[in-house]
Amino acid sequence: MKISKTVQSVSASVTMAVTARAKQLKAQGVDIVSFGAGEPDFDTPDFIKTAAKTALDKGFTKYSPAAGMLELREEIAKKLKKENNLDYKPNQIVVTCGAKHACYEAIHAVVDPGDEVLIPTPYWVSYPEMVKLVGGVPKIVETREEDGYKLTGELLKKAVTDKSCLLVLNSPSNPGGFCYTPAELADLGKAIAQTNLAVMSDEIYEYLIYGSAEFKSFAAVCPDLYDRTITINGQSKAYSMTGWRMGYLAGPEDLAGAVGRMQSHMTSGPATFCQIASVEAMQKGQEDIKRMHAEFAKRAKHIYERLNAVEGFTCAEPTGAFYAFPKVSATYAKLGVNGSVEFCQKLLEEANVACVPGIGFGCDENIRMSFATSMEQIDKGIDRIEAFLKQA
Ligand SMILES: Cc1ncc(COP(=O)(O)O)c(C=O)c1O
Repeated sequence: MKISKTVQSVSASVTMAVTARAKQLKAQGVDIVSFGAGEPDFDTPDFIKTAAKTALDKGFTKYSPAAGMLELREEIAKKLKKENNLDYKPNQIVVTCGAKHACYEAIHAVVDPGDEVLIPTPYWVSYPEMVKLVGGVPKIVETREEDGYKLTGELLKKAVTDKSCLLVLNSPSNPGGFCYTPAELADLGKAIAQTNLAVMSDEIYEYLIYGSAEFKSFAAVCPDLYDRTITINGQSKAYSMTGWRMGYLAGPEDLAGAVGRMQSHMTSGPATFCQIASVEAMQKGQEDIKRMHAEFAKRAKHIYERLNAVEGFTCAEPTGAFYAFPKVSATYAKLGVNGSVEFCQKLLEEANVACVPGIGFGCDENIRMSFATSMEQIDKGIDRIEAFLKQA
C-alpha cells in the first residue's frame, strides 16, 4: 500500500525496539534483567480501579464532551492552582488520551509545515517524530555535559531562527533523570522572552523528584510567558495509570479551544469511566504518590552509587523521573562497538541486560536505565554489567 511521505519520515521508537527484543528473549526462557521500563512498576492503586468499576456499573459507558468531562477539568484546574500556582479555567484545559497525545495535539495546534521546533538533547524519543508528523522541522539543540545536559539561555539564543515557533521543555526529564531548578527556568525564560517562541512544558514526571531538587511549573516561574506556554501533565506516571491513557494540557483559551475542536475529530477524548476514576485519583491519591516516591528515591540513590562504581561509566545523580542516564562511551573501544545501539545489543545478547540506547534521545555516548524495577533487579543487572565489562 502507498504510505504517505510524512508517515514514512517517522522512525519506530528505539525504546520499543529494545523492549521488544528483550520480551522475545524472555519468551524463549532467557532470564533478562530489564532497565527498559518507561512506566512505574507498581499496580494502579485499588481505590482507583474501584472508582472505574463503579462508574461502569453506574452506566458511564458513553461519550464524554470531546475536551473531557467538566468535573475532571475542574479538578485539574484546582490542582494546577493549589500545587503549581497556575490559574487555568476549565475551558483552558483539554483532557487527552495520555500525555503523549496532549504533546502531539499541542504541537499540531501551533506548528505549520516548515516551522522549526527546538528540542534540547537529551529528548524524549517521541518529540521529533511528532513534529515530523505535522510537517514541522525538529531542530535538535545540543546541550553540554558541563551544564548538566540542560538548555541554557545562551544555547537557546544561538539556536533560534525566524522559522522557530516552539520550544519543547521536559522537566523532570526522560531520559536525563534531572530536574531544572527554578533559577535555570527563569534564566531560560529571559531568553525566550526575547523571541516569539511558544513553550510546551511537559511536566508529566512532576511528582518524581529526589534529593534537593525542587519542581516548579515553567509558567509559574515565568508568568510573563503564561500566554505562550502549554503545560502538559497527566495521571500516567503519578498514579501508575499508564494503561488508562489519561493526560491533559492547559494553555491559553484559544489554544485549548483549537485542541478541543481537533480532538473532537480525532479521539473524542479518553474513556469516560477512566475520566471518573482520574477525578478520584487526583482527590485521594496523595498517600500512594508518597509511597511510590519513597521507593523511587531509594532506588535513585542506589543506582547512582552503583553505576559510578562501574569502570568506564559516569552518571549524574538522578534527581527526577525514574531514569539514570550514564555516559558509557569510555567502554566502546574495549568492547569493539561503535555506539549506544551496538553497546545495548551486545549487553542484551551477551549479559542478558536490557538498556535503551542513548542515540534515540540524541546522545550516542549514553544509555538510559530505568529504575522502575526492584532493588534486587537493579543489583542483579549491575552485577552482570560489571562481569560483562571485565570479560571484554
Ligand atoms: C517525557 C514524557 N512525556 C510524555 C509521556 C507520555 O505519557 P502518557 O503515558 O501519559 O502518554 C512520556 C511517557 O513515557 C514521557 O516520558
